[in-house]
Amino acid sequence: MEPETLKICKYGDDVLKEKAAEVREMGQRIVDLAAAMAQTMHQAPGIGLAAPQVGESLRLITVDLSVGENAGELLVVINPLILETEGHETSEEGCLSVPGYSLPVKRSARILLQGILLDGRELRAEFDGLLARVLQHEIDHLDGMLIVDRQSSLKRSLIRKEINQKRKSGEW
Ligand code: NI
Repeated sequence: MEPETLKICKYGDDVLKEKAAEVREMGQRIVDLAAAMAQTMHQAPGIGLAAPQVGESLRLITVDLSVGENAGELLVVINPLILETEGHETSEEGCLSVPGYSLPVKRSARILLQGILLDGRELRAEFDGLLARVLQHEIDHLDGMLIVDRQSSLKRSLIRKEINQKRKSGEW
């Protein structure tokens, strides 16, 4: 059975501003949510998704740079935590919750990540390049932080105004 595709919340929705709760119990609900998130991410299409983006305020993320082409590349991380960082890189990022925008964001170049995999095993691994960037982007979502929030206050208020206009005219 195909997992269901979920609705993606957009900038302005309250759930995206909240600090998500830790997953305390691994169970079928989490397995089903992860499968539905992967499906939603692949269909969008996108390379990363965080549970708050589908309305679930939980610390769970999915990442897949192959966008579903390579089953082995799907990474589901529960309660992800960045233990160490090294270097910095600035690059443009998009976000399924901020459609139509590509914004520069400064991220750590390398991260040491800890978390729990879907099968319950502990993950502790280093990431760099695009994967490190996407992981940091998704973990930001768990803390209520979006790419818009990582812009200068001037740019942020301009974008906010623009999106509010779109919202009013029903384009958002
Ligand atoms: Ni995003």
